[in-house]
Amino acid sequence: MFYKFFILPMLQRINPEVSHFIAEIILQIPFFRNFNPIYYIKKPINLSIKILGLEFDSPIGLAAGFDKNCKNLYSLLSLGFGFIAGGTITFSKRNGNPKPRLFHIKKSRALINSMGFPGEGLEKISNRLKNYNSKSENVFLSVSGTVEKEIIDCIKTLKNHCKAFEINISSPNTEGLKNFHNKEKLTNLILEAKTITTKPIFIKLPPWDKDNKERDDYLSIAYTSIKAGAQGLIVANSKPYPFDKLAVGKGGLSGEPLKNDTIRMVSEVRNKIGSKPIIIACGGISDEIDVWNCIAAGANLCQAYTALIFNGPSFAYNINKKLSALMVNKNLESLEKVRGQAMIKKMY
Ligand SMILES: Cc1cc2nc3c(=O)[nH]c(=O)nc-3n(C[C@H](O)[C@H](O)[C@H](O)COP(=O)(O)O)c2cc1C
Repeated sequence: MFYKFFILPMLQRINPEVSHFIAEIILQIPFFRNFNPIYYIKKPINLSIKILGLEFDSPIGLAAGFDKNCKNLYSLLSLGFGFIAGGTITFSKRNGNPKPRLFHIKKSRALINSMGFPGEGLEKISNRLKNYNSKSENVFLSVSGTVEKEIIDCIKTLKNHCKAFEINISSPNTEGLKNFHNKEKLTNLILEAKTITTKPIFIKLPPWDKDNKERDDYLSIAYTSIKAGAQGLIVANSKPYPFDKLAVGKGGLSGEPLKNDTIRMVSEVRNKIGSKPIIIACGGISDEIDVWNCIAAGANLCQAYTALIFNGPSFAYNINKKLSALMVNKNLESLEKVRGQAMIKKMY
């Protein structure tokens, strides 16, 4: 309530990068998680799920990009997320694209960004991550680069600091990532990564429209990834979007407008890769019904970013509470049973 009516309107009035910076400062308050009441609320037992040998106490994770420099992983996890993706981490420090590069579109509960991977780079972030206990915390790390060696060096250095890797080949704001849309290059990258780490590897796909010519190409990237040994896919990244107000004139759209496409893409990817590989749905997920619908369509887990900005710190906590109640109401004792259930239409 307090966030929705006082903090959010205030943060929305100031520059979005400044409000993100303020949020980061708050999350860095020493012992943030000890003062955070959500941290002490046990998550409902029916949301526990084991995937690839990893235990998740909630299916909703925080998507990559919020904590690019991995400064606040513990604080963010204490907001009720079942896992978090730190990064995207690149080999070298990067300034990202020129500003302005982030806009809140309040009316459609969306963000448009052209950040372009601003980040402190591998060395600094890996030193910071030495303090994290990768055995107990569900931290995934997102890595990227335009050449294979950069990504492999990131994985080599970070392999003891996370439970899984996401390889981001789909940011709409970084030239050169499309190199890995080439099947041979993608296969070599995944094979090489698997010689270095036994941690699960997820490939983050770009989104595609219905009946779009890219649909077959991207589904075939999904298939190639799994065939090469990736354990799963993230479906999908933000959607390329022309937007004059951005200094670079185009960026990535995220939030509510992506939701229906996410559910459709999850179902298309599931049909393409079969029932076993893991799918993490990402794009426009904002409440328990979205999580339900994504899992019903074939996802194992979900991630969100934009909805945290519009719903505030109790976002994951609310999903956990309401999704658990929904499952009880439908007589389903575990998340696995949600797969294949009918979609739920929202009444509001
Ligand atoms: C400001 C911003 C920065 C992002 N940075 C990254 C990033 O560094 N790496 C990445 O894989 N995805 C990044 N994303 C994409 C999100 O992880 C996610 O795929 C996308 O926003 C769709 O989910 P959502 O609708 O829940 O936000 C970013 C998104 C936003 C809004």
